[in-house]
Amino acid sequence: MDKAIGIFDSGIGGLTVVKEVVAALPDEDIIYLGDTARVPYGIRSPETVTRYSFENTRFLLAQEIKMLVVACNTASAVSLAAVQREFPLPVVGVLEPGARAAAAVTRTRRVGVIGTEATIGSGAYEKAIKAINPEIQVSSRACPLFVPLVEEGWTHGEVAMLVAGRYLAPLRERNIDTLVLGCTHYPLLKKVIGTIMGPTVTLIDSATETAKEVSGLLAERGAKKQGRGAADRKFFVTDTPARFEKAGKLFFGDSRVTAEQVRVGGV
Ligand code: DGL
Repeated sequence: MDKAIGIFDSGIGGLTVVKEVVAALPDEDIIYLGDTARVPYGIRSPETVTRYSFENTRFLLAQEIKMLVVACNTASAVSLAAVQREFPLPVVGVLEPGARAAAAVTRTRRVGVIGTEATIGSGAYEKAIKAINPEIQVSSRACPLFVPLVEEGWTHGEVAMLVAGRYLAPLRERNIDTLVLGCTHYPLLKKVIGTIMGPTVTLIDSATETAKEVSGLLAERGAKKQGRGAADRKFFVTDTPARFEKAGKLFFGDSRVTAEQVRVGGV
């Protein structure tokens, strides 16, 4: 029997990854868990985020998945290696694919990374990019207001421009030619970020890069869906579904997202 791809995030942001996985692999069944009762992860300690990641993974494993995507930069940055060690299935994070794409794209070897406080504080992107090419200079910046801006739907207009302008000013001064959007919410701010950084800076969307990695891994293992039935997509959340379903439209385009509330770990 065909199994699904399991994907989790701290909340709705991982839907940007689901959207790209659906575009790359439209036939695959997907089971998504948004840990909406415990979002945001970006301000929590590595120990706490790792515990949440383990509990989310156990929930998804119980749903019979064939692989796991940690569709949260914060969880990938602080807990991916531990999840890979602990659980017996292929696990893909969002960080390595973005780091690889940035290292491949930069010409000037000056790369910027933006993300949550926890992601930037972990130094995980810098480590991953420098492991590929130690000559690349990495400038990082936490942009904590971007997540609530996106969740309010304020992805365009003067407030978004003002906030992005402030956060990105130091990166503009560094003359980077590549900027990694190191948070699952940031693809929705691509236009604003692109306008501020200007046309000479390439934006790396880790959601797109992760979808390529998932597709490659399934092909390599001969694990792509065999059956011909329509793709089955299930969405679970740990808090009431209303907010997730409303914001889901923003992240997922036109399609409506309906979710079921479940208990994971202690919540
Ligand atoms: N999904 C998280 C990430 O990609 C952002 C939201 C949070 O802080 O939980 O880092």
